[in-house]
Amino acid sequence: IKKIGILSAGGDCPGINAVIHAVVKKAILDHNLEVIGFLDGFQGMVEKRWRKLEYNDVSGIMPLGGTILGTSNKANPFRYPVWENKELHFEDRSEQVIETYQETGIDALICIGGDGTFHIAQRFFEKGLNVIGVPKTIDNDLNGTDLTFGFDSAVSVATEAIDRIHTTAQSHHRAMVIEVMGRYAGWIALESGIAGGGDVILIPEIPFDMEGVCRFLQKRIAAGKRFSIVVVAEGARPKGGDYVIQKKVVESHDQIRLGGISYLVGQEIEARTGIETRVVILGHLQRGGSPTAFDRILATRFGAEAVKLAVQGKFGYFPALIGQEIQPMPIKEAIASLKTVPLDHPLLDVARSMGTYLGD
Ligand code: F6P
Repeated sequence: IKKIGILSAGGDCPGINAVIHAVVKKAILDHNLEVIGFLDGFQGMVEKRWRKLEYNDVSGIMPLGGTILGTSNKANPFRYPVWENKELHFEDRSEQVIETYQETGIDALICIGGDGTFHIAQRFFEKGLNVIGVPKTIDNDLNGTDLTFGFDSAVSVATEAIDRIHTTAQSHHRAMVIEVMGRYAGWIALESGIAGGGDVILIPEIPFDMEGVCRFLQKRIAAGKRFSIVVVAEGARPKGGDYVIQKKVVESHDQIRLGGISYLVGQEIEARTGIETRVVILGHLQRGGSPTAFDRILATRFGAEAVKLAVQGKFGYFPALIGQEIQPMPIKEAIASLKTVPLDHPLLDVARSMGTYLGD
């Protein structure tokens, strides 16, 4: 092969630039390939926007958060959003992507992304494009790989935030509810909750019961603990699947995302126990900034391996971390299901044995 394309799609996360850095360097140094980067994910392919990536273009980008190529998480070419006369409708623009692929003369396309991006990448692979994936998400919910880059950075940010909240919770004798990201999976909440010494950790995999949470907080007070740290994954939800808390009816989980499930949890704690409560939503703080050294190394390994897979012609695959090894994994495997926290995961036991409440 002579020329490869690369794009980053879906939500950004720390480490994307480290992947781009690795891909460009390895492609040029080891294989003398030409590299082009599509701008803003698949949107750049639909709109024919790209730039050449030279060796010098990636100098110094490893520690930068975000992505130098830009991204978009709404631009699914198979269901492309189009505004016409102030109305939104969706069109299939996948042929434009194939056209751009052919016109640019690339021999392979490296797609850095999570679940949504991998679904799109797989469809293009099935339409004949030489696609390679690179697994990215702070949520760590992508199947087929033990870890995605971005997760370690998000956990570090969340842990530091919990540490800071700990001291003010202690001074004011308050319950502090901290909402971390994780729409479908509780990995960030569980790991930052353990690392930050959370007293309660609520994750999507274990629907919670407000009575149980409040009983636990009251027991802490009875035991002389005058503050509590409640870590809530944004996707955590009450038992029974309905969203009725303190007479507030929220119709869907998406609606909760705008207000934050943690506000409902915080209001409920205060109303039921009288404990003064404050709520902090960390939100996109967890997605910004410089990647940890661990994520830089993982992203670099993934990027270098993605070029190797392209050169070997192993299309439809992505580099996965299995134990300590990087191994090729079919993209199909990653999108078969989401990797949520299994109910028998050892970290749940560890948290419980530290006295953390995860639900009954
Ligand atoms: O999937 C990563 C993620 O950060 C989720 O944890 C979160 O629910 C979502 O993306 C937020 O997306 P957006 O940037 O569109 O608000």
